[in-house]
Amino acid sequence: MAKPKRRYVCQNCGSVATRWQGQCADCGEWNSLVEEAPQTVFSSKHDLSSGGRPIQFTPLDQPGEIPQRQASGLAEFDRALGGGLVPGSAILMGGDPGIGKSTLLLQASAHIARAGRDVVYVSGEEASGQVRLRAERLGLSKCPIRLASATSVRDILTTLGMDEPPSLLVIDSIQTMHSDQIEGAPGSVSQVRGCAFELIRYAKENSVTLILVGHVTKDGNIAGPRVLEHMVDVVMSFEGERSHQYRILRSLKNRFGPVDEIGVFAMEGDGLAEVGNPSMLFLSGREEPMAGSAVFPAMEGTRPVLVEIQALIVRLQSGATPRRAVVGWDNGRMAMLLAVLEARCGLNFSSAEVYLNVAGGYRLADPAADLAVAAALVSALGDKPLPTDAVWFGEVSLAGEIRPVAHSSIRQRESAKLGFGKAIGPAGGPPPDKGIRFSGLTMLPNLVDRILSDA
Ligand code: TYD
Ligand code: MG
Repeated sequence: MAKPKRRYVCQNCGSVATRWQGQCADCGEWNSLVEEAPQTVFSSKHDLSSGGRPIQFTPLDQPGEIPQRQASGLAEFDRALGGGLVPGSAILMGGDPGIGKSTLLLQASAHIARAGRDVVYVSGEEASGQVRLRAERLGLSKCPIRLASATSVRDILTTLGMDEPPSLLVIDSIQTMHSDQIEGAPGSVSQVRGCAFELIRYAKENSVTLILVGHVTKDGNIAGPRVLEHMVDVVMSFEGERSHQYRILRSLKNRFGPVDEIGVFAMEGDGLAEVGNPSMLFLSGREEPMAGSAVFPAMEGTRPVLVEIQALIVRLQSGATPRRAVVGWDNGRMAMLLAVLEARCGLNFSSAEVYLNVAGGYRLADPAADLAVAAALVSALGDKPLPTDAVWFGEVSLAGEIRPVAHSSIRQRESAKLGFGKAIGPAGGPPPDKGIRFSGLTMLPNLVDRILSDA
């Protein structure tokens, strides 16, 4: 038999190299390659004598069992999942330490257990007493959750195998689990992958909904293995600033539903509260319509983020050179937009100071911000407040045309989700989203008319 080859596995992305390198060729991480035991290679000859067992085929058109989604009891959680938990599915929940993953899952577990379904919550990070303490603080100590503090996957699966399988199994977290059948320290790629594989297999065979908590590294990836993301059905991320109250739950991958739904929560003294009207969190301080303020649904990579753009115009009496200052956006782009507004729409900014600010220290790179900036500028110039429930997006050309931009429907859906009722953007894009009234514009003068006449 050929001597098994040495293999070096990147602890960041899971890619395999045949010799050690200082830097992973795939993800570029330094010092992340670790030698791991060779994997068993199956013979390429397959017949019944090789030990393989025949598998069952079922015709796709034959009526079979379709798993029913189960509500978690937290509407925002269900919404982010695309309508509830699918039995037999594996969910990976990532998020920064201390963001509230354990709290969220304990609350969801409690709701499910109260609805009469069996829930097993295994914590590898906290002792049962600590979890119980948290449950008490959340007012959930009376819930019939089966609680355990364990880190050995073999022990967990052996114990679960002695009983009826639960409806929901929560593993907090996958990085603390280990299996004595796999080499490597807990948290290493091979351990995490092996433990996840065993747990997912158990969940699929027994129609158990499995939720794995995964830590996130400083660059925002689920720690160590990207491979984990391929193994599970749903990848969720729980996000927010620890110093702020609000948390957003997103699905980044979902085999059973859409990935652009979000759930919004607020961390309070007694746990996570669902935020029914999330627009409040972005509209706070904006109750009174203000001239010069426009909301822009920006895209942050694949993520929509709503930001407020503020413009201030100060008319100068003297003939001094007016100042132009921009914070959070491109200087050159604002100069261009002012020129287009003057040349194509007949507005006059020449004797006015123009200040533009993107609220919250946010830096906009998205070209679709043009229309929102133009709306803020025109609103400030005419002292006409924009409707507080409107969002604006689109690219503006030198000829004054309003050009279509990418992700028009995600921007609208997110805005609708966050409580906005109107979107103004480029005409002729994909069909408008149901939850929001969309007005399509083709030329910048249409925007100016709209703001100066009806605002
Ligand atoms: P936790 O769920 O332990 O975070 P994770 O599992 O993602 O690491 O949340 C811990 C934080 O949440 C902690 O900083 C305290 C805060 N918290 C509250 O503000 N209110 C609460 O009711 C609870 C349980 C936690
Ligand atoms: Mg935790």
